[in-house]
Amino acid sequence: MCIGAPTFVAREFFMERMREPASLRSFYHLLDTPLQDVACNGLACFAARQDAPERWAKACRQTPTVYCLGKCYASPSDSGHDVLPHVSCHARKSVLLQNVADGGVTDLLEYIKRGGGDARQCALRTSPDDLVKMICASQLRGRGGAGFPAWRKWQTVAMHAAPRKYLVINADEGDPGAFSDRFLMERDPFLLIEGAIVTAQAIGANAGFVYVRKEYPDAARVMSEAIVAARAAGWLGERFDLECVVGAGSYLCGEETALLNALEGRRPEARLRPPQVAERGLFGYPTLVHNVETLCCVPWIAKHGAEAFAELGFSASRGTKLLSLNSLFNRPGLYEVEFGIGLDALVGKLGLGLRRGPLKGLMVGGPLAGIVPPALLHTRLGYEEMAAIGCAVGHGGVIAFANDSSIAAIAAEVFRFGARESCGKCTPCRLGIPALAYDFATAAVPPSPKQANGIAHDAVIDALATTSLCGHGRGIAEFARALQRHFPEEWSACRG
Ligand SMILES: Cc1cc2nc3c(=O)[nH]c(=O)nc-3n(C[C@H](O)[C@H](O)[C@H](O)COP(=O)(O)O)c2cc1C
Ligand code: SF4
Repeated sequence: MCIGAPTFVAREFFMERMREPASLRSFYHLLDTPLQDVACNGLACFAARQDAPERWAKACRQTPTVYCLGKCYASPSDSGHDVLPHVSCHARKSVLLQNVADGGVTDLLEYIKRGGGDARQCALRTSPDDLVKMICASQLRGRGGAGFPAWRKWQTVAMHAAPRKYLVINADEGDPGAFSDRFLMERDPFLLIEGAIVTAQAIGANAGFVYVRKEYPDAARVMSEAIVAARAAGWLGERFDLECVVGAGSYLCGEETALLNALEGRRPEARLRPPQVAERGLFGYPTLVHNVETLCCVPWIAKHGAEAFAELGFSASRGTKLLSLNSLFNRPGLYEVEFGIGLDALVGKLGLGLRRGPLKGLMVGGPLAGIVPPALLHTRLGYEEMAAIGCAVGHGGVIAFANDSSIAAIAAEVFRFGARESCGKCTPCRLGIPALAYDFATAAVPPSPKQANGIAHDAVIDALATTSLCGHGRGIAEFARALQRHFPEEWSACRG
């Protein structure tokens, strides 16, 4: 039996289950929504709403709401307009963006001509154990948000004997403000496929899925075509095969256990842990879930050596990181930097300052991270360094807010987003976030009746932080606490 051909699970199982229960269909926002004429309601578009008020108004009126088309460099955005962003590498070595910056490579022969494929050859000659050691020595941490050491997950999956193991590529890129995975997939799909092949060889995975958000139709098409080409060239097939699965509009599906439920055709709520997905993941088998960018680092590491990768970056954050800069910068775009860059350099040297200001704050790493105030721009980009100021590297989306956005208005947008995307399993998340959204939306419109529905914000935030089953509720609490810490006066004014 060829367990490398996973077609039975992905498309048919997924679509079959989608047709069935209302509990499943009701979860997804965009199941039956074509994305031909939609405007984006994401946070980067909110930050730039003054630049095209009618487009933002359309996004606010539209049902269902569409969050993040991945065009935050040209916000407020919609499905009908796109331009190419500025793309450049500011690291000593380019691990990720070489092909993207050179115009993109979507043909396998061209990819090989430019040096692609060497990592795959190297992996085929290397034992799984040595590949895990290589990733350990590289100090690669997951780029999807949490920054967990990659080798630990690799080792756990590798050491579990099982008739099947899966590699799941998280291409949901749900954080408004981030568009790096979109460009890696659209412009360098074989880099991701090669990273997946090397990783599968290390952990003994027979099958893998790329779960791409519905809002990225071009990425899904390019990935699907590249997978067919890689299969035809013998890169994929008997040993390890990949399939592209397209989502149906749900931020929570980026959370790895919800993502596995989605792939299994279940209602994509977050799962209780333990067991960890590395032990019992997709269909109960050991599963490695990685973000697109994480896997795209792997070919460079295999080709140039773990030490060369670990030499880049700083502190406990090694290698390079992609940053997506939104349209409020003079030079928005996609940047590859080494960890350790100061946030002030990010604003001044990469983004060339703001088109209008002054800067209210910098949201780095998505809506579940905090907002960095101007006074803390000397902070250097690193997992621990960002955590020390109550913020996060996250997935590297950077949204600059000018001071035409009040803290109440930003908080209201984030809470509204959080409320809409909650899976509803935990009470503070299901009921508390909508209550926060209501209060802050009320406070954002002066003169505001203070503490409109009388809830105790601190109690809700504490409950979110301590009782949430997944990172969604906890992340919203972290965001709120960062605002309390860095913008105390404006926060208090909202509380009454
Ligand atoms: C609400 C929520 C949404 C998430 N969305 C994404 C996402 O869109 N893409 C992603 O790679 N990770 C996302 N994550 C993190 C994943 O759960 C998981 O940690 C990640 O895919 C692991 O890959 P990594 O080790 O390469 O970072 C999300 C987490 C939470 C709590
Ligand atoms: S924290 Fe929110 S999104 Fe996460 S499991 Fe609980 S209700 Fe669902």
